[in-house]
Amino acid sequence: MVQLPVLILQVNNMLLEVKDLTIEFHDHDRPETVVENVSFSLDKGEILGLVGESGSGKSMTAMAIAGLLPRKKMKKSGEIIFEEKNLLTLPRHDLRELQGDEIAVIFQEPMTALNPTMRIGRQVEEALLLHRDMTAQDRKNRAIKYLKAVELDDAERIYESYPHELSGGQRQRVMIASAMINRPKILIADEPTTALDVTVQAQIIDLLQRTNKKLGVAILFISHDLSLISRITHNVIVMQNGHIVEKGNTDEIFAAPKNDYTKKLIAAIPKVELK
Ligand SMILES: Nc1ncnc2c1ncn2[C@@H]1O[C@H](COP(=O)(O)OP(=O)(O)OP(=O)(O)O)[C@@H](O)[C@H]1O
Ligand SMILES: [Mg+2]
Repeated sequence: MVQLPVLILQVNNMLLEVKDLTIEFHDHDRPETVVENVSFSLDKGEILGLVGESGSGKSMTAMAIAGLLPRKKMKKSGEIIFEEKNLLTLPRHDLRELQGDEIAVIFQEPMTALNPTMRIGRQVEEALLLHRDMTAQDRKNRAIKYLKAVELDDAERIYESYPHELSGGQRQRVMIASAMINRPKILIADEPTTALDVTVQAQIIDLLQRTNKKLGVAILFISHDLSLISRITHNVIVMQNGHIVEKGNTDEIFAAPKNDYTKKLIAAIPKVELK
């Protein structure tokens, strides 16, 4: 009998690769390095957690990926590779093509991200207006569909509302709908539930998890909340003073942290909160 060779299929799941990312500010007397030699990768469909104390460089790292760091008074080095392009050196025009299309962002306080004078519908459609050639009616239909997908009852009414007419939780749902409307490959969520009360927090987390499963979007999830990170992320990166001190599989790190700082963080989580 002929022996068939075993085929080992190597599927490349890597979506984004950050290599030696270093970010320096030059807006004071002397330069300040806020992120230094940070390297990690994000796979398709992965939920990657980013934890660490305030000021450790989490948001700066995320904003670099989203292309939202100012170009002036800042020096960035290293590479952020997405679809064979380096996002750090990509011309502004090409970066705009990706923003809100392939890579979307949601923040802690949706009120600051939403325009108070503009109806919700118009804001949810923004990314369609920028990136898709659609009729006004098709845009509206799609916006309503996504408002429903984030479980906003009465999506038609919300479409016509202004941000101040919604609750904090509803506004964050609106942000998720606008972030997801173009089916991005990456969603950056920077403390998306910190400003919400506990019950609403849990609902938004649940929604993000379901969005990840259903649409396969990879999520870079930034949070102070370690028990939350331990529950929802596949892998985790721990940052301290602009450096990565530990990274790997979430369950393994929570079961047996290697780094002293990670040990301290995990020891500080109230036991009842751990799964
Ligand atoms: N304009 C600036 N000039 C100099 N340093 C800055 C500037 N903006 C931010 N930083 C510094 O960059 C560092 C990293 O900030 P970053 O916002 O990434 O922290 P973070 O980990 O997201 O913190 P938090 O958990 O509080 O959101 C901080 O030490 C902050 O003080
Ligand atoms: Mg931050």
